[in-house]
Amino acid sequence: MPSTPRTLAALSTLALVAVAGGAEARSVIKQQAVQVPHMAAVNTIGDIDGEFGHLGGFSRAPDFSLTGKPVGAGTPPATSQPGGLHGSNIAVLDGDVLVVDADSGELIRTTPDGNKVASLALGSGASQLVLDADAKKVYVADRSHDRVVVVDVSDGLTEVDAFRTAVEPFGLALSPDRKTLLVTSVADKTLAAIELDTGFEQWSMTVGPEPRGVAFSPSGKEALVTFLTTGVVGRVSFAQKTPSIDYVSLDPAAPQPALNGSKALSGDEGRSFVRNAFAAVYAGNDVAVVPHQLSVPQSANADELGDSGGYGGGGGFAAPITHRLAFLGMPDEGEAARVDSAFALTSVHQPRAAAYHAASDTMFVVGFGSDDVLAVSDVSQASVHLAWKAPVPAPKACGPNGVAFDEGADELVVFCSLSRTTHRMAASTGAQVRGGQSPELAKSTLSASAQRGQEIFRRGNSQRISTGGVMACASCHAEGRADGLTWFLTGNILQTPFLSGRVMGSHPFKWDGKDATLTDSLTNTVGRLGGTGLSKTEVKDLTAFLAALPAPRTPSAEEPAAVARGRQLFESDATGCADCHNGPLLTDQNAHPVAPDLPEVDTPSLIGLASSAPYYHDGSAPTLEALLRGKGNIHGMGRLSKLDDGEIGDLVAYMESL
Ligand code: HEC
Ligand code: HEC
Repeated sequence: MPSTPRTLAALSTLALVAVAGGAEARSVIKQQAVQVPHMAAVNTIGDIDGEFGHLGGFSRAPDFSLTGKPVGAGTPPATSQPGGLHGSNIAVLDGDVLVVDADSGELIRTTPDGNKVASLALGSGASQLVLDADAKKVYVADRSHDRVVVVDVSDGLTEVDAFRTAVEPFGLALSPDRKTLLVTSVADKTLAAIELDTGFEQWSMTVGPEPRGVAFSPSGKEALVTFLTTGVVGRVSFAQKTPSIDYVSLDPAAPQPALNGSKALSGDEGRSFVRNAFAAVYAGNDVAVVPHQLSVPQSANADELGDSGGYGGGGGFAAPITHRLAFLGMPDEGEAARVDSAFALTSVHQPRAAAYHAASDTMFVVGFGSDDVLAVSDVSQASVHLAWKAPVPAPKACGPNGVAFDEGADELVVFCSLSRTTHRMAASTGAQVRGGQSPELAKSTLSASAQRGQEIFRRGNSQRISTGGVMACASCHAEGRADGLTWFLTGNILQTPFLSGRVMGSHPFKWDGKDATLTDSLTNTVGRLGGTGLSKTEVKDLTAFLAALPAPRTPSAEEPAAVARGRQLFESDATGCADCHNGPLLTDQNAHPVAPDLPEVDTPSLIGLASSAPYYHDGSAPTLEALLRGKGNIHGMGRLSKLDDGEIGDLVAYMESL
């Protein structure tokens, strides 16, 4: 398979973007500055735990409130839109529903009323599918086996082919002419194109960290890639022979000014960072929608800085986490440099996936943390407005992470990842469709306790977990990973640690190592989040879920010999790294006096380093190379100063393989 070499230049640009947040970073594309209303007072907070209270006084976000000028056109869009432009975990074929359940790793087919008629076992974590309805084929990203499986869906589900991909494929998109499949890969941080006639990779490019969704524009001339941790959307142009990528920043340009002339904590004080953009979906009129989260990790509210132990540092006024939809207006041809943007705040917690219905110009967005659906009408027009918001009509906790439109029935079908069920809703009202609920479609691989923990982990709007219910564990640790941010917390600036595959057996916890057990750590976390508290059983459940999180995948080594040399160096007396980073998780489980701002710092596990930038408790090393070259704040660690460039390269290669 021919593949273009990965460009390191592109990677380092993105590393910059990731660290600086998008606003200051040089995305080639201009965009309007957007003010984020931190104090949008609308109404009081509802709570899915049924508690009301005076907790911090955050006001609930409006269901849909657009800031800035709409980017859409004055006229309705053309009503036909090819399907398959973006992947999802659910699709509809002549009323039948095709769904991928990441937990069991199964691709499942049901009749319109939800009866399971066929299933196909893939690897656990299987992520997106994309349907070619004309060819009666579905492509599925098999995240744990590094392949895209081709399934004939003319009748039942028949695996007919499979294409190799880079490590950890996640997002898929099908070109309007059905000839090309785009694939994002999480661990390898790539976007690749597969020529479907031959199964060959046409090209591959390195993109930013934590890529997820990808979408083709209806013209096929460009594509968008979304990320969990960069604050940007990648805009790939196919105008030239070789595809090229630009990055559009979604981060608000202006930080909140520090109040009362207080001394700034750091350059990031008051800044907002876009996170958790799982999907981009094109509407008509060259408009695309990108649901995401906005995090303000270091609040500029001076009055609150001193006395708050809580996340963000702010207290009564600024919710450190809000949710938004980005509207990007991208006149396709010849205007590559222009992107108009507008943003809408929404009460939907962790908006994750979306589906577009062209005939009604409506976008449907599901809230992973709040079990609801938002319908936005005239989404590609100047008259864009809220049509309705409705709860997913599921009897149990849902955790929706996929939605599809059924043209024939004029209904939505929502996939509940927690109950592994599908639910139909009327497109015009969001009302439950009678008989439109499937039974449990697959068995979970998690224990009952871990399943309950999984539900708590993603739960938004719960005052038991955080002040005003604004934060969920998954807000900062999406998929059990890390948001790449440093939060103002208990008087320090502390980086969010990566959790997946490195929590169990790495005690004590927290950067200062003061929480001896995971139970202490979780109990204290909820306290700092301002939550009223979880029961002992719930903390146990969360622990069971954290224990079940898989070890992160590592990127393919560009030079395996360098990894081996790096390992030798790491374990040698010359560096002394293994004095403290040893055992299966590469931590001595001890704290050391290495930092100026904490008396002692707990030796972190080094598992998942390739995906957990920035580094050090204060996030002061943006890359592993910067850490080895001493650009971070921590200098007492190992014997770094004598390393030459080759040795640094080898050590980085080794650390990325952990
Ligand atoms: C606002 C962002 C945010 C939210 C929300 C959040 N965390 Fe964290 N998490 C962090 C940061 C920052 C730290 C490091 C804090 C420290 O070391 O004092 C951390 C530390 C942890 C640790 C310790 C890891 C280690 O290796 O020491 C665990 C476990 C954890 N979080 C789990 C959770 C769970 C479970 C929830 C939900 C109840 C949650 N977090 C909510 C940001 C967040
Ligand atoms: C004295 C014990 C000790 C030695 C020796 C040591 N480390 Fe560390 N390491 C730590 C501690 C403690 C931290 C956390 C420092 C901080 O964040 O303030 C850390 C942090 C790190 C991190 C950042 C992890 C993250 O997730 O942010 C990396 C990478 C790392 N060490 C690699 C190395 C390498 C490579 C060497 C050898 C050159 C080395 N360490 C030697 C104790 C040690």
